[in-house]
Amino acid sequence: MTNIFNVQDLSYQVGETKILKNINLDIEKGAYLTVVGPSGSGKSTFMRILASMISPTSGQVLFNGQPLNTFEPTEYRQKVSYAFQQPTLFGKTVRENLVFPFEVRKQELDESKMIANLEMVNLNETYLDKSVNDVSGGEKQRIALIRNLIFPPEVLITDEVTAGLDAENKNIVHRMLNEFNQRGLTILRVTHDETEIDDATDKIMIRNGELQND
Ligand SMILES: Nc1ncnc2c1ncn2[C@@H]1O[C@H](COP(=O)(O)OP(=O)(O)OP(=O)(O)O)[C@@H](O)[C@H]1O
Ligand SMILES: [Mg+2]
Repeated sequence: MTNIFNVQDLSYQVGETKILKNINLDIEKGAYLTVVGPSGSGKSTFMRILASMISPTSGQVLFNGQPLNTFEPTEYRQKVSYAFQQPTLFGKTVRENLVFPFEVRKQELDESKMIANLEMVNLNETYLDKSVNDVSGGEKQRIALIRNLIFPPEVLITDEVTAGLDAENKNIVHRMLNEFNQRGLTILRVTHDETEIDDATDKIMIRNGELQND
C-alpha cells in the first residue's frame, strides 16, 4: 500500500502549551479516515498542519514521500484542499467563489461545470448570482465544499462540514464524498456527528493532543 501521508513524531506547541504531542501516523492513498476526539483536543490543528497552513514545531510530514515544506504553497493547496470548520465565502456573489478555482489554475471558465457542482449539493444555477450575505449557513458550507471540489484535489480534508446540515443535505454530502472517494480521492474527515462516527470504518482518535491507539 502506498502512503499519501507519513506523519513523523509531529508536535505543535504555542508558548508553553503543547497542542499536539509526538504524533506518528501513516495514511494510505485512497483512505477515508475519520478523525474524532473531544473539543479542543487538537483535531483542527492537526488538519491545518496537514494542509500546510501552519508548520509543526517539531517532527515532519511527508506528502507522497516529500516533506511538506518542499512544495510551493499554491501548488500544494491544489493537491491537498481543506474545507474549513467555519467556511467563509469571499467577494460579493456565490459566482466569484466558484470562478476562483478556474482563475487560480488559469483555466477557461466553465459555467456548466459550476452549475453541475451546485447541483451535486442540492443547489442550482440561481445561486450563482446570489449575494454571499443572503445564503444560509448550510448553503454556505455546501458552496465552500464544492469550491474545494470543482477541480478535485488528491486529498480533501473536511472539518465538521456537515455540522450545520439537515439530514437530507447531510446524506447528499455523504453520497457525494463517497463517490469521490471511490474514484480515488483521499478524504480526512473531522467530525463529532454520531452517525458519521458509527459509519466510519477507518478511524483515529485524538485526545489531549495525543493520538490514541485503541
Ligand atoms: N495558535 C494558537 N494559540 C493558542 N492556542 C491554540 C492555538 N491554536 C489552537 N490552540 C488551542 O489548541 C487546542 C486545540 O484546538 P483545535 O482547534 O485543534 O481543537 P479541535 O480538536 O479541532 O476542537 P473542536 O472539536 O472544538 O473543533 C485548543 O485548546 C485551542 O484553544
Ligand atoms: Mg476543530
